[in-house]
Amino acid sequence: MAHYLIFLGSIRTSTPPAPARLGERVAQACLRLLSSLPDTTAEIIDPLTLDLNGPFKPHFAYAKAVVPDDLDALADNIEQADGYVMVSPEYNHSMSPALSHLLNHFGASLFAFKPSAIVTYSMGQWGGARAAVSMRAFLSELGCLPVSAMIHIPKAQEALHDDGQFAQEQERWESYFGRTLGQLTWWAEAAKAHKAEQDPTMLSPAFNTSPAQRNAPATKKS
Ligand SMILES: Cc1cc2nc3c(=O)[nH]c(=O)nc-3n(C[C@H](O)[C@H](O)[C@H](O)COP(=O)(O)O)c2cc1C
Repeated sequence: MAHYLIFLGSIRTSTPPAPARLGERVAQACLRLLSSLPDTTAEIIDPLTLDLNGPFKPHFAYAKAVVPDDLDALADNIEQADGYVMVSPEYNHSMSPALSHLLNHFGASLFAFKPSAIVTYSMGQWGGARAAVSMRAFLSELGCLPVSAMIHIPKAQEALHDDGQFAQEQERWESYFGRTLGQLTWWAEAAKAHKAEQDPTMLSPAFNTSPAQRNAPATKKS
C-alpha cells in the first residue's frame, strides 16, 4: 500500500478572474484517479486549512515542544507519505506562491528520496507549462524528484467540472493523467522497496545544521 499527498497550490477565494480556486477541481481529479489505482491511497493537502499567515516561520525553526499542532501533523504526514502530487496554477508565468510558501515550511529531508508529479493548470491556453519548468528545479532541491511526464491543463475552467470530473474526452484525459501518475507510483514503489534494503541517509545524510553543509571545499590561497 502506498500513500500520496496532493498539494493544492491555491488559496485564491476571490474573483475576478472567475471562477475562484480552479485548483480544487484539479486536485479532485488527481485524488479520484490516484485513489482508483490498486493499493493506493491519497489525500489533498489544502493550505486554506492551515494558518500560515504572519511572519514566516518554518516547521524546523520551532523548538520541538512549541511547534503548532497542525504544522507538526503535516510534517509527520509528509515524512510518512510515499510520494507527492504538486498542483499549481500559473501566476505570472511562475509557480504559485501559495504552493512554494507552503512547501518552504518543511525541511527537504521530509520529502527526500521520494518522487513527485508536477500538475499545472491555467485559464489560458498553455496550462501552466511555464510554471512547470521552474517547479522541476524547486522540487529537485526539495529532494522529491519530479517524474518526467507532467500534466498541464489549459482552460481548466472548461476542462473540469467542480467535482473534478472531465467535461469532455474523459478517456483521453484519464490516459494523459495516467501516464504521469503511473510514473509517480512506479518510482514511489521502487524507492520504498529499496529504502527497506538500504537507508539512503547513510549515503547522503540530511543537512541538519546549515545548507552550507553541502558546499564544495573552499580553496585557500597559499
Ligand atoms: C495573480 C495572477 C496571475 C496569473 N497569471 C497567469 C499566467 O501567467 N498565465 C495564465 O495562463 N493564467 C494566469 N492567471 C489566471 C489563472 O490561470 C486563473 O486565475 C486560475 O484560475 C488560477 O488558479 P486558481 O483559481 O486555482 O487560483 C493568473 C491569475 C492570477 C490571480
